[in-house]
Amino acid sequence: MHQQSTRLNNKNIFLIGMMGSWKSTIGNKLANFLNYKYIDTDVAIEKIMKMKISKIFSEYGEKKFRSIEESYFVEKSKDKGFVFSTGGGIILGIKSRMALKNNGITILLKASTKTIYNRIITTNGRPLLNNLNDSEITLEKMWLKRKKFYYENADFIVETDHLQPDQVINRILKLIRV
Ligand code: S3P
Repeated sequence: MHQQSTRLNNKNIFLIGMMGSWKSTIGNKLANFLNYKYIDTDVAIEKIMKMKISKIFSEYGEKKFRSIEESYFVEKSKDKGFVFSTGGGIILGIKSRMALKNNGITILLKASTKTIYNRIITTNGRPLLNNLNDSEITLEKMWLKRKKFYYENADFIVETDHLQPDQVINRILKLIRV
């Protein structure tokens, strides 16, 4: 079923959270349900740069990636009617945090480090987790460093550890009162 809430008034929905928190899985379906347009910032950046995210990291470094990510996000989030699945590090930039605050509703998809580790262990292409032997520890350290920003910037938080993607979507729809 497609529907668009008048209450939502075409406001953007930003999904934030650690890598593996299901931002992309949920974002796509949520956009479809709301009859919204959909953007995965990583995918958009890869298209613009004609390069995989991992290649951008290895060629230009993380700092450059963050600056590309931030300029892209700050501009694009001025549009309306989008669900954005953001890269896990979007909350690191002050301008991106301002954009989250000013340009829509931000939902933090939260999962324990164990859950995230189990979800992403089978995937690759995550440059910040190259050494799988210690990636659970790396993920936990990353979460501890970032959690303040995730919490501070979230209008709503959905704990996803014990939910299926469709249940997460239903929670979000309730929270945004669609
Ligand atoms: C990153 C998360 C990735 C991607 C990049 C950096 C991070 O996106 O932007 O590898 O710093 O957490 P996902 O959260 O979609 O995996």
